Amino acid sequence: MCSILGLAGDHDIASTLIESLKKMEYRGYDSVGVAIKDKSDILVKKGVGKVNVVNHDLSMDKMSGFTGIGHTRWATHGKVTKENAHPHMCNTNSVGVVHNGIIENYVELRKDLENNHGITFKSSTDTEVIPNLLQIYFERLHDVKKAIMATVKKLKGHYAFVALFKTGELAGVKNHEPLILGVGRTDLLLTSDVVGLPDDISSAIYLENNQFVIIKERKHKIFDFEGNVAQFVVKTIPKNYQNVTKESHKYFTEKEIFEQPETILVAGNDEEHLDKIADLIHNSDYVYVTGSGTSYNIAVIAKYLFSRFAGKKVEHVMASEAKYSSQYLIPNSTLFAISQSGESADVLEAVSIGKKKNFKIISMINSENSSLARESVFSIGLNCGPEIGVAATKSFTSQMAILYKIVNKLCDGCIDVNFKVISEAYASILSDVSEIQKLVKDIKDIQNLFVIGRGIHYPIAKEAALKIKEITYIHSEGIAAGELKHGPLALMDGSAYVLVINPDDDSYVDNISTVNEIKSRDAKVIGVSNKPDANYDYWIPIPTVDPALYPLVEIVSLQLIAYYLAVERGIDPDYPKNLAKSVTVK
Ligand code: F6R
Repeated sequence: MCSILGLAGDHDIASTLIESLKKMEYRGYDSVGVAIKDKSDILVKKGVGKVNVVNHDLSMDKMSGFTGIGHTRWATHGKVTKENAHPHMCNTNSVGVVHNGIIENYVELRKDLENNHGITFKSSTDTEVIPNLLQIYFERLHDVKKAIMATVKKLKGHYAFVALFKTGELAGVKNHEPLILGVGRTDLLLTSDVVGLPDDISSAIYLENNQFVIIKERKHKIFDFEGNVAQFVVKTIPKNYQNVTKESHKYFTEKEIFEQPETILVAGNDEEHLDKIADLIHNSDYVYVTGSGTSYNIAVIAKYLFSRFAGKKVEHVMASEAKYSSQYLIPNSTLFAISQSGESADVLEAVSIGKKKNFKIISMINSENSSLARESVFSIGLNCGPEIGVAATKSFTSQMAILYKIVNKLCDGCIDVNFKVISEAYASILSDVSEIQKLVKDIKDIQNLFVIGRGIHYPIAKEAALKIKEITYIHSEGIAAGELKHGPLALMDGSAYVLVINPDDDSYVDNISTVNEIKSRDAKVIGVSNKPDANYDYWIPIPTVDPALYPLVEIVSLQLIAYYLAVERGIDPDYPKNLAKSVTVK
């Protein structure tokens, strides 16, 4: 989603703000803008495009002033235009705002501001009501704190915003969207994510919901929405979240795929929490597993793993669908919520539905300070470090590794899983990508790519198809291989391509029959398997491992196919169009 920043320092801060905006771009990259307070006024520069491009055109980093705000946008209300880019100013140019989230009642607020206060709106965003409300209340109450308290009383929805006042104050407000205050020696930086902090800020305060901070002359005070002074804890930011770079890689997506031999070794390395989660699952009559996108695919994998190896029935619930099936959710159950960011609005909504039904919430997250972690009785960490590429890659294998660990606790070690062996299998796949590179050169112009798999390989097929459509823009569908003959076979002809996930396990023989059916219709088959087959037009070999472990291994080859296909098609896989990491709106 959008990223919001606010910086107060004792020097010209524009270049620092721009560097932080570049790091935060993964949350949204439609447009960018900054507002800086110079000696007397607030100056705004903004434009459509990525930070580097807009900065090159407008020299935002050369603006002078010690206090400012910045934004990268993922459009919700209003098209991608300069007018809709943030910051948004009030009519008198005395308050500027950057905002993340949605103001649900903005239409009525806007009408009221137009009709009763003579406000003229310049954008079609929901955001623009905020600076105008702040300005009206500030004029009336002559106090930033009171103006914020009056404004938040008017706003409905989940949001965080940072406001810059012409009087010099910087304020950050949090209501169900992330907002963190980085505390440096000279600088204070409000940010949606610690990833945006400059290298010299290693401590931060995580604001709670319904809190706001006012920064004046580089001193901060935190209040709740009732105006009471709030207590806070200053936390140290883990080193791997500071100064995150691509290192020798061209893209973050590539870096993150290639990190997996290491990240798989540290996933969920917390025996105490694994035990607690396994015990809770074991002792619960009903267990629901929820997530969105890639994390939902993990929820489906959980169903296969838990039932097959631990004889435990768990049910998956797509987070965005939870509210439409809430009447079927059995009270007092356990909800296992899975989210890399721990901030996905759909997942948090599923959790809040669960809480109303007295569910015990457990979670798998990559940030111990995320909203989801704070909503859970127990959480287990992926420990895979920041994932910047919009496509989830290393977080997926870490999530799967944790599932295997929990299932193994429930079945007394029935799966022979040695993560060193998995790590070596990854290293072997990553050490020779020549077959994948040959393949993507041949298929780079195709329009459709079907991915099929059986059993537990079906959610892996869905995950591969999600990666392909997301970063290559090729239409891709994950299909349960046995379902092909029930409809999709109609699409098979000489122009069709089918990627079959076909490790040598109990799904192999049936898959070979399906491959024959596909070949009989002249379609091309790409086999991802540890065994070659004469029917494959392309064979992407994977290492031979214990049959129970193929899902952990095959996905890396599938991620590589998506990645190299994106690069071959000239697409920046880190920033696919229309998407953003961490989807904090519903
Ligand atoms: C796909 C992808 C998304 C996320 C989804 C949930 O590659 O990254 O589908 O998996 O938005 O995100 P988290 O796991 O942060 O809740």
